[in-house]
Amino acid sequence: MLHIQIRINAVSQAKPEFGQAKLQICRKEVSMKILVTGGAGYIGSHTVVELQNAGYEAVVLDNLSNSSEKVLERVEKLTGKAVPFYKADILDREALEKIFDQEKPDAVIHFAGLKAVGESVQKPWEYYENNISGTLTLVDVMRRHGVKNIIFSSSATVYGDPAFVPITEECPKGQCTNPYGWTKSMLEQILTDIQKADSEWNVILLRYFNPIGAHKSGTIGENPNGIPNNLMPYITQVAVGKLPQLSVYGDDYDTPDGTGVRDYIHVVDLALGHVKALRKIEEKAGLKIYNLGTGTGYSVLDVVKNFEVASGVKIPYVIKDRRAGDIASCYSDAARAKEELDWEAQYGILEMCADSWRWQSQNPNGYEE
Ligand code: NAD
Ligand code: UFG
Repeated sequence: MLHIQIRINAVSQAKPEFGQAKLQICRKEVSMKILVTGGAGYIGSHTVVELQNAGYEAVVLDNLSNSSEKVLERVEKLTGKAVPFYKADILDREALEKIFDQEKPDAVIHFAGLKAVGESVQKPWEYYENNISGTLTLVDVMRRHGVKNIIFSSSATVYGDPAFVPITEECPKGQCTNPYGWTKSMLEQILTDIQKADSEWNVILLRYFNPIGAHKSGTIGENPNGIPNNLMPYITQVAVGKLPQLSVYGDDYDTPDGTGVRDYIHVVDLALGHVKALRKIEEKAGLKIYNLGTGTGYSVLDVVKNFEVASGVKIPYVIKDRRAGDIASCYSDAARAKEELDWEAQYGILEMCADSWRWQSQNPNGYEE
């Protein structure tokens, strides 16, 4: 059944916040229209803000399975621009056809997907169906409408237990430890093969490291369902009093303090990486792969300490056994993105922690008022 809701708010009179009006004027000449699948989600919503700030037209498609439409009102408030929104599923070919007929986007930034590692082990079929069938349907509709520009949300998880750190894009892909990871790895292969077969396609695979942080305003941020799986939302929920203490999964890894090391990256830096990737597409990218990370690894205990400094809140923790499927160290070599995209992460770990905290403390229940 076709289910499209179009919500274009009358925000033309809305006042842009955070000095964004100036930025819009600087990039006024750009008018590419970008369809953002999963644009109501954590990374998608921050990317819509940066797209609009950079002068791109952004249209959001999301089935709201892991997000709230309220985020889009907040995005509109931040940028002073309307966000056309289609409540639709990437598996719904008929809905996609209508959206492409109506919007005629120039490019797609494809965030939509299920992403909970543990859940993917319990529900592999749902993950393969949603992420892989959904992307195949999306890409088929794209090509039938002559839209052959896509930026895909991939993940450092495709490196498995990496052959070396810092991880360059040349590092061989590894064995994923869960179906979610395999969907990313397989979709990278599928999109690569599609581009190889038809050079009109521009495909940019962005391998994200560990996004944390939130928009400086504290009005949009990460809003996980239930008990968080990831480190930063768990810490912020301890800090706000929703959870009693943090479990640190393992202190016997081969790392400086024995806890797992990751490359945490501010979500706004990540969002800006997509704007740079679009510029690359405008130059005719072909197939490109970029790590989006800071190049610096922090341990679990480093993150806890930095969060305590940034927030002034003590985080009680206990050391537990290692979590199944975890690896010791994962951090990027981000040189390629700097050289080819002119992109580099700007925010450090303290700012990431401060911004995560601002979001969580101002919105202890996420988008629920
Ligand atoms: P998110 O869950 O906040 O956003 C994903 C959005 O996609 C949600 O709004 C959800 O409602 C929507 N969606 C899911 N299935 C859909 C479908 N079939 N049709 C339409 N919409 C659908 O997740 P996020 O953290 O913003 O991640 C965005 C993308 O980046 C995902 O593809 C994720 O796998 C990838 N990624 C995330 C991380 C991370 O740590 N957050 C790391 C690497 C890669
Ligand atoms: N950790 C804890 N306690 C927690 C949660 C996490 O100690 O409550 C530790 C983990 O053991 C790990 C580190 O914190 O050492 C980071 O764990 P996250 O769950 O935040 O992130 P991961 O690196 O395990 O995985 C995340 C996403 C994946 C993505 C990957 C690489 O969940 O989808 O980053 O981008 F693939």
